[in-house]
Amino acid sequence: MDAADVKSDLSEILYTSDQIAARLAEIAAEIDRDYAGRDVLLVGVLNGAIMVMADLQREMTSHVEMDWMAISSYGSGTQSSGVVRILKDLGTDIEGRHVIVVEDIIDTGLTLSYLMSNLASRNPASLEIMAMFRKPAAARIEVPVRYVGFEIPNEFVVGYGLDYAGRYRNLRDLAILAPHVHH
Ligand code: PRP
Repeated sequence: MDAADVKSDLSEILYTSDQIAARLAEIAAEIDRDYAGRDVLLVGVLNGAIMVMADLQREMTSHVEMDWMAISSYGSGTQSSGVVRILKDLGTDIEGRHVIVVEDIIDTGLTLSYLMSNLASRNPASLEIMAMFRKPAAARIEVPVRYVGFEIPNEFVVGYGLDYAGRYRNLRDLAILAPHVHH
C-alpha cells in the first residue's frame, strides 16, 4: 500500500520507503562490519518487526539466522505497562550466540527493557538492539540501542510494520496518522 492509497488518513509522511531502504542498507553494512567472522542471530519481535527483519537481512552480505518472539504486554491497550507475557518463545537456544534484537519501534522502552533482561539471562555471547524508529520524547526507561534507523517525534505513526487497530502495517512509508482517524 502506498501513502497515496490512504492519503486522507495521513497528516504527514515522515520517511518514504526509499529513505527507509537507504538507511537500512547503511545499518546492514555496519552490522556486517561489526560482526565480521561471527554468526549473527536476529531475533524479531512480532508483529511490527516483520518488515524491518525482511529488509535488513536481505541487505546483509554475511550469513545470518533469524528467530521470532511474540509477546503481549499486560495492562490497558495503548500504553505499555512493562509487564510482558511471552506468547511465543524462541525456537533457538541463544546461549553462546551473538544476538541482535530487531524492533520496529521503541516508544516507552518498557517492552524491550523487559525482553533484554529475559534474553540476557539465557547467556548469549552478545546481545544488542537494532530499532528502525525511536521516539526519544516518549522514553520512560533508557534502553541501550546499538543501531537506530531514525529518531522520530512523539506522534501517532503508522506504516512499515506499525499498525493502528491492525491496519496500515502494509503501508510502505512511515507516516503520522491524521487525528480524525484515531480520535
Ligand atoms: C510495539 C513495538 C514494540 C513496542 C514498543 O509493539 O513493536 O514491541 O510496541 O513500545 P514500548 O517501547 O512502549 O514498550 P505492539 O505492542 O504495538 O505490538 P505489534 O508489534 O504486534 O504491533
